[in-house]
Amino acid sequence: MENERILILDFGGQYDRLIARRVREQHVYCEVRPGNLPLEEIRAFGPRGIIFTGGPHSVYEPGAPEADPGVFSLGVPILGICYGCQLMARALGGQVIPAQEDTAREYGKTDTAFDTASPLFRGLPEGSVTWMSHGDYMARVPEGFTVIARSKSCPNAAIGDDARRFYGVQFHPEVRHTEQGTGILRRFLYDVCGLTGDWTMEDYRETAVKALREKIGDGRVLLALSGGVDSSVCAALLSQAVGNRLTCVFVDHGLLRKDEGDLVESAFADRPLNFLRVNAADRFLRRLAGVRQPEQKRKIIGEEFIRVFEEESGKLGRMDFLAQGTIYPDVIESGGGANAAVIKSHHNVGGLPEDVDFREIVEPLRLLFKDEVRALGRELGLPESLVSRQPFPGPGLAIRVIGPVTRKKLVILREADAIFREETAAAGLAPDQYFAVLTNLRSVGVMGDGRSYDYAVALRAVETEDFMTADWARLPYDLLDKVSRRIVNEVPGVNRVLYDITSKPPATVEYE
Ligand code: XMP
Repeated sequence: MENERILILDFGGQYDRLIARRVREQHVYCEVRPGNLPLEEIRAFGPRGIIFTGGPHSVYEPGAPEADPGVFSLGVPILGICYGCQLMARALGGQVIPAQEDTAREYGKTDTAFDTASPLFRGLPEGSVTWMSHGDYMARVPEGFTVIARSKSCPNAAIGDDARRFYGVQFHPEVRHTEQGTGILRRFLYDVCGLTGDWTMEDYRETAVKALREKIGDGRVLLALSGGVDSSVCAALLSQAVGNRLTCVFVDHGLLRKDEGDLVESAFADRPLNFLRVNAADRFLRRLAGVRQPEQKRKIIGEEFIRVFEEESGKLGRMDFLAQGTIYPDVIESGGGANAAVIKSHHNVGGLPEDVDFREIVEPLRLLFKDEVRALGRELGLPESLVSRQPFPGPGLAIRVIGPVTRKKLVILREADAIFREETAAAGLAPDQYFAVLTNLRSVGVMGDGRSYDYAVALRAVETEDFMTADWARLPYDLLDKVSRRIVNEVPGVNRVLYDITSKPPATVEYE
């Protein structure tokens, strides 16, 4: 059975992904498509409601993105957000102009009064804080609409036409600063569009397994398993769908954290699939010997990974499908918009090999957000340690050992990192990402009666929503103290522990 669907038309703002996540959090399936999607495609999508996102432009600028005007005649409810609201107002005969000096230009948290008789705000408090970011304003609202929210400087912070079920808000309900944002989206989805919230991971699992069986038939599937959340969930799902016709190649490059390779292997021990673990540490370390440059390390690891994968899969005979753990944010990202500057070349294990013979690619997580992938992993019975795993870069510990990587340095880093993770978890804390780094700094210390000249380990812990920006985690001194003592006492070669108090930007999360 088809899920109820919401279509999000993207007019170029930075919030499309966030809106989609918020809609999915309400158990409603949605997809993001370009704002100028032709009417036939909108119809073919079969939306039960449409959301127009914000955008960086002014609707009256020449060339500003517009929606197909036919969208207003489909009889489908529409919610316009910020630019999307102004776009709807203008398309339906209203007037949008630049805000005057003292009126209607708003940025940041704003007290807003809601008309709780409107279906969009029913049952919510009559006033609360919203998050605004607009320099334009609706001087005249279109015929059929009434004003349903006001702020001090903006007389029409939201508009609605109950007959056509069109609503527009100047503020951003998707950001957390809008106190009633979730409630407002919920009203739109459940009350205005009349949805029931039929998007659950249990259903998704059943539907996906069925679809994979149909697609794959009696073909064979190959997957590069990195042990990360995405490839692990992908493997578990495919294993449930096609059992032994799935072969997972797990390349252990020797740059994993303590016990990680075994953890991944044991998670798949009792499932029907062919699990092939390739212990390739020697090869990787040989190629990395003496290499200092971070980008060069990444490049070597990426190339070597593909080479090992090709060699191993070459021994397996012809495969019909190559599976990849691509997830929805990657899909949205590659769907358009200017690419953000490449700060680091992100080598993702599982990049496309050239010499592997296969007919087609399958990407069973293509429509899921990260938190949904985790929920699906739980649904499939994967251990929590895999499912809620913090992100771990493809090049692994190689980019957490500053300077040339050696076996000895990897041992030091693994032990220090394991202590940091163990103590943090024991303190009941789980920053979004936290790990140890082996700096290239050696310094003098005293140990017992002797002088030492050993390495400094840096501890890094960050809180973040999306890893594009991150704040350093305020870990308790007691925890840092315990970790520091244990590392210096238990890990030979380390005589100093540093805590990194730099946010991103200007620093990145990783050191290389
Ligand atoms: P940065 O260091 O760029 O990290 O602030 C942001 C997030 O990306 C992860 N990261 C990587 N992931 N391959 C990956 O798969 C890489 O080369 C890589 N470099 C950084 C990093 O761990 C953090 O979560």
